[in-house]
Amino acid sequence: MRTHHCGALSAALIDQPVTLAGWVHRRRDHGGVIFIDLRDHTGLAQVVCDPDRPDAFAAADRARSEYVLKITGVVRHRPAGTVNPNMPSGEVEVFAHAVEVLNPSATPPFQLDDDNLSESVRLEHRVLDLRREPMQRNLRLRHRAASAARRFLDAQGFVDIETPVLYKSTPEGAREFLVPSRLHDGHFYALPQSPQLFKQMLMIAGFDRYYQIVKCFRDEDLRADRQPEFTQIDIETSFMDEHAIRALMESLVRTLFRESIGVELPDPFPVMAYDDAMRDYGSDKPDLRVPLKLTELTDVMRDVEFKVFSAPANAPGGRVAALRVPGGGTLTRGEIDAYTDYVRSLGAKGLAWIKVNDRAAGAAGLQSPIVKNLHADALAAILERSGAQNGDLLFFGADRATQVNEWLGALRQRVGHERGLAQAGWWPLWVVDFPMFEFDEGSKSWKARHHPFTSPKDGHEAFIESAPERAYAKAYDVVLNGWEIGGGSVRIHREEVQQQVFRARKLTPEDQRAKFGFLLDALQYGAPPHGGIAFGFDRMVTLMAGAEAIRDVIAFPKTQRGQDLLTGAPSAVTEQQLRELHIRLRNSKAAG
Ligand code: AMO
Ligand code: AMP
Repeated sequence: MRTHHCGALSAALIDQPVTLAGWVHRRRDHGGVIFIDLRDHTGLAQVVCDPDRPDAFAAADRARSEYVLKITGVVRHRPAGTVNPNMPSGEVEVFAHAVEVLNPSATPPFQLDDDNLSESVRLEHRVLDLRREPMQRNLRLRHRAASAARRFLDAQGFVDIETPVLYKSTPEGAREFLVPSRLHDGHFYALPQSPQLFKQMLMIAGFDRYYQIVKCFRDEDLRADRQPEFTQIDIETSFMDEHAIRALMESLVRTLFRESIGVELPDPFPVMAYDDAMRDYGSDKPDLRVPLKLTELTDVMRDVEFKVFSAPANAPGGRVAALRVPGGGTLTRGEIDAYTDYVRSLGAKGLAWIKVNDRAAGAAGLQSPIVKNLHADALAAILERSGAQNGDLLFFGADRATQVNEWLGALRQRVGHERGLAQAGWWPLWVVDFPMFEFDEGSKSWKARHHPFTSPKDGHEAFIESAPERAYAKAYDVVLNGWEIGGGSVRIHREEVQQQVFRARKLTPEDQRAKFGFLLDALQYGAPPHGGIAFGFDRMVTLMAGAEAIRDVIAFPKTQRGQDLLTGAPSAVTEQQLRELHIRLRNSKAAG
C-alpha cells in the first residue's frame, strides 16, 4: 500500500514519487494550501495539498485529526526558513498528487501530543494513548529488551519452556487469584505467583537451563512498581553455585542495557550483605545514587537523659541512628516539619534534629531541641561518627530497628533527591546473604523471607528449627537505582532440608503433603543442586525508558485499584455463568 514510512523521508528522495499511509496528526489550512502532518510509527511527514490538484485538495479538505490517509506525491525541499531540524524528515515535504481517505475518525477525546493527560483518560482511551510517540517508544523498547534477553539466553544454552497458568493454590507469599473449576464442584485453580516450583521440577527433570518470559499473578496492594499481573524473565540452572549464577545473570543484565539503550553498566556489580545494607542505608534496595549513609548510635545512647533515645537503645531489637544532610543547616522550620510529617506518615513518632552551626564550639555550636538532654560523650560520638561539618543537619530515628530503618531509609532517599545530592547514572548492586526467615508479628510465626524453597547458607541448616533468626540464605537480589529488579536463590535440593523448613513454618506433615507433596516427591529422585533468579521485566524496562511507573511500559495495564479501564474488568457475570461454576455470591447485588 505504501512505498515509504513517514519518518524515512529525507533529502536523498528529492524529486522521487512516494506513497505514504498513516494518521492525520495535524492539519493546517494556510489560505488555500492545506498542510497535513501525516504520522505513522516512524514519525511525521509534512504533506502539502494545493488547489491545483482538486481531487487531492478536496480529500485533504475533508480530513480531520486521526483520519487514516493514503497519500501519493513527490518529495521536495521545504522552502528556506521552514526546515525543521528536530525531525529526520524535517528538511523535506511531500507535494500531494493523490489523497485517499482510507478511514475517517471520530473526533479524538484528546490531542495526541497533549503532555498533561490524566492517567485515567489515558487508560480509558488506551488505544489512542498507545498511538502517542512516548508509548510507541516504550513498547518498542520493551520488545528490543525481550529480544536481547532471548538472544543472550539462547546463546547460553537456556531452553524456553512454558509452564501452566492454571495451577494449584500453594501458600508461597503474596495472595493468589483463584479460578473456580466447572468440572470439579467446589475446587479452584490458582494463577501462579511465579513458575517457581515448575522451574525447579524442570531442573529435577534434567533440563539444566530453563528460561521463560512469563506472566505472574499476585493479588497485592498496587503501587507505581507493582501490577497484579506482571512479567518476569524467569530463569533456573542446574549444577551452578551462587557465584556462578550471579556472574551469568549480571552479564545478562549488562547485555540487556547495552543492547536496548546503549548503556554500559559497571562490571562487576558491587555486592553488599543484607545486614550491611540495612545498617548503612536502612533498606534492602538502597539507591546508591544517593551517597548518604546512616550513622549507628545505639551504643552511645543507652545512658542519655533523653528517653526517646535511651529507651530504644536499651530495648532488644531497638536502634538509634542518624542521617547527616550535608548543607542541611539551610533547611527552614517549615521544611523540617514537612520531613517530620513524611516520616510520621510512615509510622514514626517524631524526627529529632540537630543543626551543626559551629562544630568547634561543642554543644554551644549546635542548634536543636534535644541537645540539652544528650551528654558530651554522646554529642561527640554523633559529630565524630557522622562526619558532620559546619552547615550540616542531622536527623535522628529511634525505635525498633525495623521501624527506624524504614523511616530513615525512606528519608535518606527523599532528602537525597530533593536536595540535589543524588549522582547521575546507573548504580546496580547485588544484595546477598539475606536472613532465611522474618518474624511475622501478625501470625507470631517465622516466615520465609524469599520463599520456602531457598537454601540455607552452608552450616546454617542447624539453625532452621533451633534458632531461625540466625539462619541465613543463599539468596540474592539485584537492585538498580533503588528498584529491586530481580531476586533469586540457590534452592534446597534435599528433601529432609525442605521438610525442616516446612516444619519451621509450622506446616504439619499432612499440610506439607497436601500443599507440596508433588515437590517433596520430586526431590526424592535425585534432584540436582540448582538455583536461579527472576527479573521483574516491567521494572527493568521502566528504568530503561526513564518512566515513572511500570504502567507506562505495559500495553494494557491495570489501575492502582486493579481495574482495566479500557475493557471494564473486573466485571459482574451472569447468574448462569455462576451456576455452572457452582458459585453463589454472598452479596447478591454484585450478581449481573
Ligand atoms: P520475586 O517474588 O522476588 O521472586 O519476584 C522477582 C521479581 O519480580 C518483580 N516483581 C514485580 N513486578 C511488578 N509487579 C509486581 N507485583 C511484582 N512482584 C515482583 C520484582 C522482583 O524482583 N520465584 C521467585 C524468583 C526466584 O527465586 O527465582 C520470585 O518470583 O522485580
Ligand atoms: P518530644 O520529647 O516528644 O517533644 O520529642 C523531642 C524531639 O524528638 C522532637 O523533635 C520529636 O520530633 C523527636 N522524636 C520523638 N520521637 C522520636 C523518635 N522515635 N525518633 C526520632 N525522633 C523522635
